[in-house]
Amino acid sequence: MRCSLHNYGMSLYDSVLRPLAFLFDPEQVHEAAMWMLSRGMIKAPVFEDPILEQTVFGVKFANPLGLAAGFDKNGKALNHWHQLGFGFVETGTITYHAQPGNPKPRMFRLPADKGLINRLGFNNEGARAIATRLAEAKSQIPLGVNLGKSKITELPNAPQDYQDSFRLIHKVGDYFVVNVSSPNTPGLRTLQEKKPLLEILSALREVNSEKPMFVKVAPDLELSALDDVVDVAHEAKLTGLIATNTTIGRDGLSHDPNQAGGLSGLPVQKKANEVLSHLYKACDKDLVLIGVGGIMSGADAYEKIRLGAHLCQLYTGWIYGGPTMIPAACQELASLMRRDGIKSLQELRGSAY
Ligand SMILES: Cc1cc2nc3c(=O)[nH]c(=O)nc-3n(C[C@H](O)[C@H](O)[C@H](O)COP(=O)(O)O)c2cc1C
Repeated sequence: MRCSLHNYGMSLYDSVLRPLAFLFDPEQVHEAAMWMLSRGMIKAPVFEDPILEQTVFGVKFANPLGLAAGFDKNGKALNHWHQLGFGFVETGTITYHAQPGNPKPRMFRLPADKGLINRLGFNNEGARAIATRLAEAKSQIPLGVNLGKSKITELPNAPQDYQDSFRLIHKVGDYFVVNVSSPNTPGLRTLQEKKPLLEILSALREVNSEKPMFVKVAPDLELSALDDVVDVAHEAKLTGLIATNTTIGRDGLSHDPNQAGGLSGLPVQKKANEVLSHLYKACDKDLVLIGVGGIMSGADAYEKIRLGAHLCQLYTGWIYGGPTMIPAACQELASLMRRDGIKSLQELRGSAY
């Protein structure tokens, strides 16, 4: 059933909570928010509409907007993300070895540009501890599990490191992601090259060849390098690709805070959309594309799907938009589809070409 239309306009979050939260260190605010989220203390009036439903790689999604990796790194709030209207959630990045990440401060807001820079460096409790938590969690929406390389593991040993994590965690989760695109682990992005990427994927397939598997790519790859990833996706029979991670570029910033790390939010939108568009044109049409990078509204999600995404994710847009952002974006997406006479997400997908 379609729920009644809400007015998700200027909220308490816009007028009071975000300005207040933005007075404090971003990571401290994140930790406080996770504390509340993991106890189910933050909720939103969920928007449901059959026009947003679809089944992709055999999994049913009530809407196409998911929480991107990096927010719930340790899988602590997995029982609650549906209460905020998300259609799916991706936990992680999880590494085999627990690790503290980079020295603080390591997360910076760019409010004038609706962006964030982070160099967290895969801070997480490690695959063993998180596997135990995930086994007990009861996510009511599809769950993705994002895996990365431990910092102490040398690059040539990456396949073993990913495999060790996957062995511990492969039983829970509707899909898995090989993250080789974070800018904050030295050398990680070289694993996007054909040979090392194929080695990692075949190591994971030794453990389990059934689970849907994605690779998450950087927005900074040359088009030829993207074509190599597409070849790998076909060769390794990946379920799909996630485009994109944060960028090391600093294009289009009104103010560059001169901080190392990955840039996300509105400033990455253009690049992320270009990568998504290139992948759509280069890939077999049954390869699933998850579009992420700079979604700040339902209209931005509409554009990603038009460019070829089956599903979308966001992180930074949610920080700026607050708890009612996802239902508001879903409502906007559904109304844009109706405005344009589009009856399903399948019909919308790739309609930009
Ligand atoms: C603070 C922060 C931490 C992130 N951590 C991860 C991570 O651990 N793994 C990952 O694959 N992506 C991570 N990302 C990237 C996001 O999942 C997403 O790909 C990127 O931010 C672009 O989307 P956005 O513009 O909606 O934020 C992180 C992003 C931010 C802002």
